[in-house]
Amino acid sequence: MTKDALPRVLIDEETIRKRVDELARQIDADHAHVDELVLVGVLKGSFIFLADLSRRLTVPRRVDFLAVSTYPGEERMPGAVRLVLDLRIDISGRHVLLVEDIVDTGSTLAYLQRILGAREPAGLRTCTLLRKRARITHEVQVDYVGFDIPDVWVVGYGLDWAERYRTLPYIGVVDGE
Ligand code: PRP
Repeated sequence: MTKDALPRVLIDEETIRKRVDELARQIDADHAHVDELVLVGVLKGSFIFLADLSRRLTVPRRVDFLAVSTYPGEERMPGAVRLVLDLRIDISGRHVLLVEDIVDTGSTLAYLQRILGAREPAGLRTCTLLRKRARITHEVQVDYVGFDIPDVWVVGYGLDWAERYRTLPYIGVVDGE
């Protein structure tokens, strides 16, 4: 892809906006009984989705972040994912919503659900903007999915290609895909 070429549009801004609204309504309804929901963003990819989703919710909420690292090329191996930044708050007894930009193999999510579940939250649900069904190798429970997408390299709205295109306002596909 040349320096100035923009990725072609897979999901445009308006479609994302409408779907984030729908997800927020569904999450609000499912947490109507909850005193406070802890939104946990997985850095870096989730930061834009989380920013938009968190502002459309009405349930009382707070935001925290964690970050993981994956050993390159070993996404499908047990132990490939490790925590490089932990939450600041103790989630024991709290209702938690894990927010991801994309579920690809499911290895990150499997790891996070295991380590966060061990902290005994009152509830632990997961929301992802994107999911590549064809690539899943780990059985994971995903409660809210924005879009199921084909197995192409997607960028924008938080997702990068070697750190490029994260701040594109739409979900695009890099040329050659
Ligand atoms: C992406 C994405 C998920 C993970 C999904 O993160 O944000 O966390 O990969 O892949 P998996 O289902 O195969 O585990 P990435 O490693 O690109 O880091 P980033 O979010 O910092 O860009």
